Amino acid sequence: MSTNHPRLAAKTLTLAYDKRVIVEDLDVRIADESFTVIVGPNACGKSTLLKSLARVLKPRSGAVLLDGQAIASYPSKQVARQLGMLPQSPVVPGGIVVEELVARGRFAHQRLLSQWSPQDEAAVTDAMRRTEVADLADRFVDELSGGQRQRVWLARALAQQTPILLLDEPTTFLDLSHQFEVLDLCAVLHEQGRTIVAVLHDLNQACRYATELIVMKDGEVLAQGAPAEVMTAELVERVFAMPCRVMDDPETGTPMIVPAGRERRNAARTGRTPAMDEISVD
Ligand SMILES: Nc1ncnc2c1ncn2[C@@H]1O[C@H](COP(=O)(O)OP(=O)(O)O)[C@@H](O)[C@H]1O
Ligand SMILES: [Mg+2]
Repeated sequence: MSTNHPRLAAKTLTLAYDKRVIVEDLDVRIADESFTVIVGPNACGKSTLLKSLARVLKPRSGAVLLDGQAIASYPSKQVARQLGMLPQSPVVPGGIVVEELVARGRFAHQRLLSQWSPQDEAAVTDAMRRTEVADLADRFVDELSGGQRQRVWLARALAQQTPILLLDEPTTFLDLSHQFEVLDLCAVLHEQGRTIVAVLHDLNQACRYATELIVMKDGEVLAQGAPAEVMTAELVERVFAMPCRVMDDPETGTPMIVPAGRERRNAARTGRTPAMDEISVD
């Protein structure tokens, strides 16, 4: 495989729901064996892009390329052996217990007429252990808390044992320590050679964990690269309309975004300086 030809990429991708175009003519390359984090404001098209990379959403035009070939042209089981996806709001099938749902991650490894194998069993057990849901094995998924359910879906994606993992907001619904546990798990999977693409909202976590950031706004990629190279106060203000400072994270040395205080944010919003506000109050 040539180095200028990543396993997963999108070429002149246009994505739409009915007539509403969300992403137009987008080119994206997911660096092989990267931990890529996609950030951007609500509704900018992060999930839409991720769904198309996972072949869940068919492009209006252009293509997602897996190993240089249109992903749509592969048999679905072949795609599912390469690429696992944690959707943002997965629909829980009714009446299913945790272990069954995680086991469904093995469908792409099952051959016609073949039985559940010891490898399948080991993959499910390992995925449940790593996401700390083994204790929940017999519980109904729709009776779990949001955070527990999130980890079960992650276990399902892990059980699939794919070299590429697409995770849409894997830390949403989780308390702080579970957020870091999930991110640490992603970091370990990345160190073991997997390519991770995750949508995250927390910019500081994104900068700590990403080897590559993709910064989106209004369906476009405004910046892509290592966090230390792309994350600037100007970019955050441009993308999130949020004045801030970017400092070195005292724990990790990665960029750390400190939002401006209320006065400076208000001033930026209204175009007035804090001093002018003080005068008008008097
Ligand atoms: N299934 C859908 N049908 C119609 N519009 C959708 C659908 N899913 C998302 N959208 C719209 O597409 C835009 C991008 O959504 P999404 O990709 O989910 O954003 P993000 O993940 O960045 O918050 C939003 O305006 C959203 O309302
Ligand atoms: Mg989303």
